[in-house]
Amino acid sequence: MSDHLTVVDHPLVQHKLTLMRDKATSTAGFRRLLHEITQLLGYEITRELPLTETTIETPMETMQSPILAGKKLALVSILRAGNGMLDGVLDLVPSARVGFVGLYRDEETLQPVQYYFKAPKELGDRMVIAVDPMLATGNSSVAAIDLLKEAGATNIRFLCLLATPEGVARMKEAHPDVPIVTASLDRELNEKGYIMPGLGDAGDRMFGTK
Ligand code: URA
Repeated sequence: MSDHLTVVDHPLVQHKLTLMRDKATSTAGFRRLLHEITQLLGYEITRELPLTETTIETPMETMQSPILAGKKLALVSILRAGNGMLDGVLDLVPSARVGFVGLYRDEETLQPVQYYFKAPKELGDRMVIAVDPMLATGNSSVAAIDLLKEAGATNIRFLCLLATPEGVARMKEAHPDVPIVTASLDRELNEKGYIMPGLGDAGDRMFGTK
């Protein structure tokens, strides 16, 4: 993936995103849509998984056929909202290993505070996909990628639902080697660090905590 930012403009992605943004969408609906849209975004972000060939017998003859190469990929959920995207990618790559980064955003400083980190072994040999629906200030995304690199990851991608120009610029500055795939590049961050027009607090919307 050569471009730093890929906005997936597929009609199904854009349609589902509109439903998710609508404040009238229920918690259950929001969660289901996030799952579905993540499958579509996951298709795009896994486009460059390396392939090798294996020999199989079809009912007709022997053939050499493509199969995923190398170690299983690692999915890393940035808690808590990242969990809403995990199963969508796991549907596509069921044998992926899964890690978690626990970061919460200090609502005053908007800086990330780490409270949990658990990653699969041999991160350096795997493609790592970090998932978090909202790339807002970029502070927690940058901090999560810092932790993954400290743990040995060298081939990282970032999957989100919405991104801001500010967040993308911050990621590009800190981690130019990490491509971002998103469903939308929204207009801006507001003074409280929310994405505009956005969809509100993604964690609250998927877990019904507000
Ligand atoms: N996190 C969210 O859940 N929503 C925003 O708008 C920004 C960060």
